[in-house]
Amino acid sequence: MQNSREFIVFGAPAIEQAEIDEVVDSLTQRWLGTGPKTARFEADFADYKGVPPDTVLATNSCTSALHLSLLASGVGAGDEVITSAMTFCATANAIIHSGATPVIADVDPITMNIDPAAVADAINERTAAILPVHFGGALCDMARIMPLAQSRRLKVIEDCAHAIETRSSLGKAGTFGDFGCFSFYATKNMTTGEGGMVIAANPEHTHYMKSMALHGMTRDAWHRYQDDGYKHYQVTQAGFKYNMMDIQAAIGLHQLARIEQNWHRRSEIWNYYRQALCDLPLRLPASAPAGERHACHLFTLINEHPVLGRDQILEALKQRHIGCGVHYPCLAEHPYYQQTYGWRPEQVPHATHIGRNTFSIPLSAALTDDEVEYIARSLIELFSD
Ligand SMILES: Cc1ncc(COP(=O)(O)O)c(C=O)c1O
Repeated sequence: MQNSREFIVFGAPAIEQAEIDEVVDSLTQRWLGTGPKTARFEADFADYKGVPPDTVLATNSCTSALHLSLLASGVGAGDEVITSAMTFCATANAIIHSGATPVIADVDPITMNIDPAAVADAINERTAAILPVHFGGALCDMARIMPLAQSRRLKVIEDCAHAIETRSSLGKAGTFGDFGCFSFYATKNMTTGEGGMVIAANPEHTHYMKSMALHGMTRDAWHRYQDDGYKHYQVTQAGFKYNMMDIQAAIGLHQLARIEQNWHRRSEIWNYYRQALCDLPLRLPASAPAGERHACHLFTLINEHPVLGRDQILEALKQRHIGCGVHYPCLAEHPYYQQTYGWRPEQVPHATHIGRNTFSIPLSAALTDDEVEYIARSLIELFSD
């Protein structure tokens, strides 16, 4: 059967004229690198998160934000950093590139977030930090993780790639630990194409990360080339090239201005899916408990059909022109980590089960009602065939 529908691309962002005009303005002004728009974007993000402006730094990805946070934490060779077995490989790789050894802890099978009891079991004298991931937009159990870290003087770096809007009565995601790292990758709740942001509890860490994000230099290009003349810089450490540029910030400024509006749209879709799909042999993602706000980043389903496999479902949805994601294969399934750290899927059974059976359906604010209904109807028809 021919499908005349356009393919629904997973995670296609909601882009409006304001972003397009702002990017054109940057191109017309001919200041493309890190500059005034990046500074404005950092200030707006600090305001959104309710943190002081000098604690926030825009980066070129969440991966670089994680790496900088680990470096600023003083984590390095001989240290272990505990993270979730259910995350994107960027989380583990950032730990590896800091020189430390990643250690995975299993997740809660319902929230898919790192289990504080598994974290406690993994702590030993080499542990230097905990890196919880607010999976899909659900807040980790910070009320248990923070005291655990504080009692052992461990740093906490929150991976908030999915959790820009996540909060509870205790605080906002990214402000519980020493560092909070955000992603503005193309499919995320707000995008700059590629991009990230890091919040540090201590502004001295932000100052250090700002220099490390630009080769370890004392002055960025905006501050060297402005109209009051060239200024010299010094290299005080061997840094990286992790800065955000103004073209990215141009997009981010307007994405951030609409973050709540887009969150409301995704919550609406989330609630629609929950009702429409509740009778299917699929485990629905857990909603936030009372008093907490879920960022509604991913609508992750777990296949519980006795015959139809997850990959068959992915294929059937592709035939219906619906793009899906898999978030994520458990980290212990990847050959690199198995060969380097000896990780085995059996050591993290919940994350392994999720990774082998999960698939995510589109949840972008850009989806039309017709597309959302079509996605739900397609799943219902698939299971009634
Ligand atoms: C949980 C998690 N952490 C980190 C990252 C890395 O983000 P970025 O692509 O901005 O480097 C991602 C990106 O998908 C992610 O999902």
